[in-house]
Amino acid sequence: MATKPDLDFTYTTIDQIFRLSIGEMGDYSGAFFKGDFSMSLEKAQLRKHQFIAESLNIHRGSKVLDMACGWGPFLNYVRKLKATGTGVTLSTGQAAACKKNGLDVHVMDCRYISPETFGEFDAVTCIGGLEHFCSVEEYKQGKQDEIYTNFFQSVSNLLPVGGRFYMQTMVFSKNMLPLEKISVDAGKNSDSYVLALMIKEFPGSWLPYGDGQVIKNASPFFKLISKSSGRLDYIETIKRWRRKFRQFHLKKYYYYACLIPRFLTDKEFRHQVAVFKVSPNKVCFERETMDHFRFVFEKI
Ligand SMILES: C[S@@+](CC[C@H](N)C(=O)[O-])C[C@H]1O[C@@H](n2cnc3c(N)ncnc32)[C@H](O)[C@@H]1O
Repeated sequence: MATKPDLDFTYTTIDQIFRLSIGEMGDYSGAFFKGDFSMSLEKAQLRKHQFIAESLNIHRGSKVLDMACGWGPFLNYVRKLKATGTGVTLSTGQAAACKKNGLDVHVMDCRYISPETFGEFDAVTCIGGLEHFCSVEEYKQGKQDEIYTNFFQSVSNLLPVGGRFYMQTMVFSKNMLPLEKISVDAGKNSDSYVLALMIKEFPGSWLPYGDGQVIKNASPFFKLISKSSGRLDYIETIKRWRRKFRQFHLKKYYYYACLIPRFLTDKEFRHQVAVFKVSPNKVCFERETMDHFRFVFEKI
């Protein structure tokens, strides 16, 4: 899985820049435009929160666990419903920002939360976290199914029978290349290069193969209530993010400037910064090397 240093590399490095671009408690996962791209990004993220809360029957007084909570957008929505939210992330920067914004967030590996940690919950969410649970090395060792099964088992332990779990995740899709064909030395416009950049952007992370692998590993513990592809919505989300990340803001541009010494001395970081020229995720969605799914599960 992606380790704490991996996740700090991906998320804590951009903590200030993210909050100045997308908002203090902004979402860093695909929004829910439902194909209506005249909608603002904020409205589409709100629509996602509403969809999740309705699907999981979250209401005043509900106890909710948000695994991989990022900067706390869904916890903030839960708070507005007067429900109780607990979040976990492995990024120190995200957790500090969440606490500053009055959210109950812990730096912890969500895969090992048991009923002894915080008790049981009425509903659990994991919005864009599964992507990080299996590393390339673990995939090579054939451990991917085992990792996902163990994860679904621990989520199931936190819920009563009939309790619901929402997750959304990127997955590999029909045009995915074999791992050995992926290389940063490949031609700059090739799938091979773009996938290699994605691996650099998210070190320690490898995706499930289609919605099928996710559903198969959930099935001993959960029945599937609904599923939809968010691929096109994610492409639109990324386009909007990129505009916001570029928008001029003096303090933000100061933070960008602070990254220059690291850019000059750290090769891995230079690969990560390459994503400012091309968004590997967006290209992967467009070329269908990747897809994205939203799942509502119910504990059996
Ligand atoms: C793409 S962000 C999504 C954040 C948030 N859910 C949202 O929608 O804005 C991925 C998040 O997964 C978290 N994460 C990844 N692996 C984790 C783990 N094993 N335990 C806890 N958090 C994890 C990262 O720290 C980060 O907050």
